[in-house]
Amino acid sequence: MITVRDASEDDLPAIIAIYNESIPAGRSTADTEPITVAERLDWFRKFDAKKRPIWVALDQGRIVGCIYLLWFYGGRPAYNKTAEISTYISSSHQGKGIGTMLKERMIKACPRLGVENLLSMYFDHNVATQRLNDKFGFEGVGHLPEIAEVFGEKRGLRISLLRINKSEQAGAVNPHAFGAFAMSAADRPLAPKTK
Ligand SMILES: CC(C)(COP(=O)(O)OP(=O)(O)OC[C@H]1O[C@@H](n2cnc3c(N)ncnc32)[C@H](O)[C@@H]1OP(=O)(O)O)[C@@H](O)C(=O)NCCC(=O)NCCS
Repeated sequence: MITVRDASEDDLPAIIAIYNESIPAGRSTADTEPITVAERLDWFRKFDAKKRPIWVALDQGRIVGCIYLLWFYGGRPAYNKTAEISTYISSSHQGKGIGTMLKERMIKACPRLGVENLLSMYFDHNVATQRLNDKFGFEGVGHLPEIAEVFGEKRGLRISLLRINKSEQAGAVNPHAFGAFAMSAADRPLAPKTK
């Protein structure tokens, strides 16, 4: 059974290990070398469970994925209702619906987190993220072609947007598809869906 809870600083090594696992494929991140826990400590401490959370997914107590919301554009106040979403699932657990479950749950939490505009930025050859976003109705709002170079290949960046208060996409996902997942005691209840 997969459970979900807020991440703690003790979880950071597992989170970084999953992130680093994704680097060699060159599809997920602009990092091209493994990062360290020490490098990400300040980054981790900027998360705030009430506004910009980071959650981990656990399979029998082992962290197998994480999802988080980042302040947009340096966190300047005019962007307070805008957040960037990122999801990382351990390669051993990809393709099993965990990314979908985490993203659905985060989208449902957005109203109580004060997020109205959810941005997803990803390389244009990241098919899994594209499909995941399509399921929730993210709209393509930008494409920066050949803006990055990853392991010698020019790569583009797609920017997709989900307007939370106008969205019914979270409800469009079949809830029965997530029957195998459960919330841990630490999970908070989901906010009611908004229109
Ligand atoms: C992208 C990612 C978060 C998706 O999570 P996941 O748990 O593997 O995805 P799910 O099992 O919920 O499937 C979501 C959709 O992606 C598709 N998908 C998953 N893995 C895929 C792959 N390797 N290639 C193509 N499509 C894939 C699934 O088919 C599904 O679409 P469908 O329902 O239309 O069939 C996960 O694969 C991952 O962590 N990848 C590496 C890190 C990464 O790229 N993160 C995003 C950074 S912007």
